[in-house]
Amino acid sequence: MIKSKTFKRLYKDYTSIFINKIILAAVFSILVALSTSATAWLLDPAIEKIFINKDQTLIILIPLAIIIAFSAKGISLYFAKLIMINVSEEVKKILQTDMLKSFIKADTEIIESKHSGKYVSNLNFDVHQITRMLSESFLSIFKDGLTLVGLLCVMFVQNWKLSLIAIIMIPLASITAKILGKRMNKISTQAQEKSGDLNRYLIDLFKNHKIIKIFQRENFEEGRSETFVNDFKEKSAKIAAVYIRSTPVMEILTGIMIAILIFYSGRLIISGELAINNFFSFLAAMMLAYQPVKTLAKVNIAISQGFAAAERILPIIDIKNEINLNEDKKKFNISKGNIIFDNVNFHYKSNPDNKVLQNVNLNFAGGKMTALVGHSGSGKSTLLNMIPRIYAPTAGSIHLDDQDISKFNLASLRSQISIVDQNTTLFDDTVLNNIKYARPEASNEEVFEAAKQSICNEFINNLENGYETMIGENGVKLSGGEKQRLSIARAFLKKSKIILLDEATSSLDSKTEEKIQKALDQLVMNKTTIVIAHRLSTILNSDKIYVVDSGKIIDSGRHEELLIQSKVYKNFYERQFKEH
Ligand SMILES: Nc1ncnc2c1ncn2[C@@H]1O[C@H](COP(=O)(O)OP(=O)(O)O)[C@@H](O)[C@H]1O
Ligand SMILES: [Mg+2]
Repeated sequence: MIKSKTFKRLYKDYTSIFINKIILAAVFSILVALSTSATAWLLDPAIEKIFINKDQTLIILIPLAIIIAFSAKGISLYFAKLIMINVSEEVKKILQTDMLKSFIKADTEIIESKHSGKYVSNLNFDVHQITRMLSESFLSIFKDGLTLVGLLCVMFVQNWKLSLIAIIMIPLASITAKILGKRMNKISTQAQEKSGDLNRYLIDLFKNHKIIKIFQRENFEEGRSETFVNDFKEKSAKIAAVYIRSTPVMEILTGIMIAILIFYSGRLIISGELAINNFFSFLAAMMLAYQPVKTLAKVNIAISQGFAAAERILPIIDIKNEINLNEDKKKFNISKGNIIFDNVNFHYKSNPDNKVLQNVNLNFAGGKMTALVGHSGSGKSTLLNMIPRIYAPTAGSIHLDDQDISKFNLASLRSQISIVDQNTTLFDDTVLNNIKYARPEASNEEVFEAAKQSICNEFINNLENGYETMIGENGVKLSGGEKQRLSIARAFLKKSKIILLDEATSSLDSKTEEKIQKALDQLVMNKTTIVIAHRLSTILNSDKIYVVDSGKIIDSGRHEELLIQSKVYKNFYERQFKEH
């Protein structure tokens, strides 16, 4: 079913701005209709005046008129199509831009809730359906609708009785189209899903290509890839099959109708009620009407597909983010930089049963270094990501300098925070731009300085083009440790007052780490620093340590205190740190 809400929305936000062009296309459509009808109508005087009355002037004029009529038709058709193709490409651009904006701004949890391949499919497959609806279907409604009206007029002028018989076919054709349209809607949604699956698989395939080789799963993947491609092919083939299903129905209907018409018109001619010139003009009009009727019968199929796609796309464009940007709120300036977690609870929406954080109360002193230790999966990274509001507490609140962070301007909050994530992510861009990403206005000298501090300059200088080297998708051309150092360089460049380090040096060898450590010590001096620690040295340097266990804070204190007070910490320390 086509929902009027979707229709209004598509019109208001995406097509109304092109209304002038659409009107122009409509004008050309009127010309197409008029010229097509004229060609049919001209047969009447042609036969009467030339063949029957043997008129000498019209033998020149009528063929000329026919050339003009056909040329007018061809040229108008070209412009009508050209304009609508342009409009639909513009609409495509706006839709894709809106979707991309939505992706960029969407809450991390929303982005993580679906495989990226599905989103790729929305951006390509679905948008294409909508574009096609505009460039083909809507134009066809105008053009073929008007042409049909024009031709019907010619038919009625030539003989109304015959025309009445001919138009019986139109409702029959539209019933067929309606039934097919419903079926198409369903298959089209399935096809979209399969296209999404295929994209998802493709992305996984590229990401995991080494794993596939090492575990020798090529045959398995070949089998799987065949399934994905085949599933999509099945649905596409089904769409095509349903689409052409109207063809035999239409042909049979046409055959029956022509038979009836010959029978009936024969009787009219025999009884002298119908002249031969009128009959031929009528017949020409009817034949020309065949194509518009056929196209119009299929229009609603493509429109169903287009609307089904719109109903998948619009919710993406309309994503309601829970993490309010608070753009209207005042900018926040850090004074002390104290961060307090007040009874914070959190679970991921995708898995509400996993209580990732439970009644977390923390106090990160401003200008000091606090460490979080705990087993993997205990919730440390999640906790850290809540400070720049990547995730929002499901209960409780987080305060910075005694103010609830959910209440102030998000951009100003994030501008004060650097985070070196556990998983380094990089753009397929140059080394320079990857570091600069943290502060685009920084000068190249500042970037070089940051790179030097994070011990990046050695390996950067060895790259083929130095700072201008493209590093490949997510930095494939770099080692894990090199990527991590680029990520640390970003933190050096940003120079923010709050620094969050999530196992920031875990991929580095101890020698490189030692070198970085000195610079890091400088960086974090007098800044609110929270480190998720994996090395003893970090812990010994920390002013305070929190022990996280299954989403709860179970102990806190300095290293020496915890060794005595906390069994969990002692145990953890002995297993994790002692050997280092
Ligand atoms: N994006 C996510 N969606 C759902 N669950 C997640 C997500 N990220 C982490 N988790 C779950 O949250 C828990 C805490 O994870 P995390 O904060 O990464 O722990 P840590 O950093 O201490 O190893 C784990 O049980 C993990 O399975
Ligand atoms: Mg982690």
